[in-house]
Amino acid sequence: MALFDLFGKDEGKAAQQVPQHIAVIMDGNGRWAKKRGMPRKAGHAAGAETFRRIATYSKDIGVKYFTVYAFSTENWKRPQDEVDALMNLFRRYLKEAIEDMAKNNVAVQVIGDLHVLPEDIRDLIDECDEVASGLDNPAYATLCINYGGRDEIKNAVRAIAQQVQTGELSPEDITEETVSRHLYTADMPDPDLIIRPSGEIRISNFLLWQSAYSEYYFTDVLWPDFKPEHLDAAIASFNQRQRRFGGV
Ligand code: IPE
Ligand code: IPE
Ligand code: MG
Repeated sequence: MALFDLFGKDEGKAAQQVPQHIAVIMDGNGRWAKKRGMPRKAGHAAGAETFRRIATYSKDIGVKYFTVYAFSTENWKRPQDEVDALMNLFRRYLKEAIEDMAKNNVAVQVIGDLHVLPEDIRDLIDECDEVASGLDNPAYATLCINYGGRDEIKNAVRAIAQQVQTGELSPEDITEETVSRHLYTADMPDPDLIIRPSGEIRISNFLLWQSAYSEYYFTDVLWPDFKPEHLDAAIASFNQRQRRFGGV
């Protein structure tokens, strides 16, 4: 973890330890729009702006991995026009990312069950991966789209079962590491800090395996209203915690 003085050089303010991996459940877009008498999709557009701003800020303060929950495996239940609006926001963001990734040295990646996404979005994700693979020691911005923690674990179990069936792997050789390696997050460290705005106190199927020892931070702020100072507050809270990982 990097040591970084988040709050400037003022005497008496302790240096804050910046988490290596911060994940956010970007929630509250719909309520933000409703409060303003706007359609839900306007809330998603505002939420996308917040994502741009907070992803940039987190990189600037030294966060190496910034992961956001953008669309769950359950979000297909929403009205088609809302789903379409979200897909359009993903298109727009991915196009932008392909242009800007090298300049910012940020590897934008998408994880989830991507097979069912529209083909043009899958092509954009492939283009992102190609640009990302050429970056030298980048920061990572990861969007979870059609992501579900249970779905991810089910897919891992299936892949491992196939290896057992072909004789590549024997059941007694399956370790926690084997499972981790079969998740979408195989190349990433587990999140240190998971933030959920909007006042909901639940995880809604996000990073179930990876969050075993994550610190949680909940705030009533709706995601479109989330500002860099709210991230500072979450990191300050993280710095108050004593992570024991089962030890003493
Ligand atoms: C989160 O905001 C964005 C997605 C789930 C795609 P919501 O759309 O869930 O906003 P609320 O919870 O209805 O306010
Ligand atoms: C979780 O938010 C999913 C994302 C933020 C993408 P939801 O709004 O879908 O979660 P619930 O339905 O309130 O649990
Ligand atoms: Mg919600």
